[in-house]
Amino acid sequence: MENVILIGFMGSGKTTVGFRLSYRLRRTVIDTDKEIEREEQRSISDIFAADGEAYFRDRETMCLRRLLNSTGNQIISVGGGLPLREENRKLLRELGQVFYLQASAATIYERVKHDTTRPLLQGSDPQAKIQKMLAERDRYYREAADSIINVDGKDFEHILCEIAEAVDKRQNGMQGRREKQV
Ligand code: S3P
Repeated sequence: MENVILIGFMGSGKTTVGFRLSYRLRRTVIDTDKEIEREEQRSISDIFAADGEAYFRDRETMCLRRLLNSTGNQIISVGGGLPLREENRKLLRELGQVFYLQASAATIYERVKHDTTRPLLQGSDPQAKIQKMLAERDRYYREAADSIINVDGKDFEHILCEIAEAVDKRQNGMQGRREKQV
């Protein structure tokens, strides 16, 4: 079975949705940020501070390439900036069915306003930063995605149902095509 991949801005709920989806679909879950932190034995903030963003972005691409060679049938949530690289968008599509958890700047701000673990959102005016970054990134998320799931005002159960339905639909479509070929 194909992997299910969750992309979207910081605070859009990828990690939580991924975790809950893994129970629902009975698949294991992987988070690229956590993979990188585990491999590097340090936090994302420490990686950014010591080696800079470019180094972290290279680690993200390496992580995707490795997943492509090793996994199937998993839930994969990825860091918010990972789909910005063209190569990564291509790798994501190869890796499985991609869902963009689309959230408004207001929803994101509410969720991350007390967070200190995301280096790109620190600074004096995180709200303006979110708006600007989201406006720049939205098109890349759309480009990488097979489906867009708007998460504003929805509870997790609702979001999980939408994703599970789309996963079923695509799997049944693939199954149908295979049966026709036989
Ligand atoms: C980033 C998002 C973070 C993490 C890093 C950079 C980004 O992941 O990869 O801080 O550029 O949007 P989450 O989206 O899981 O917060």
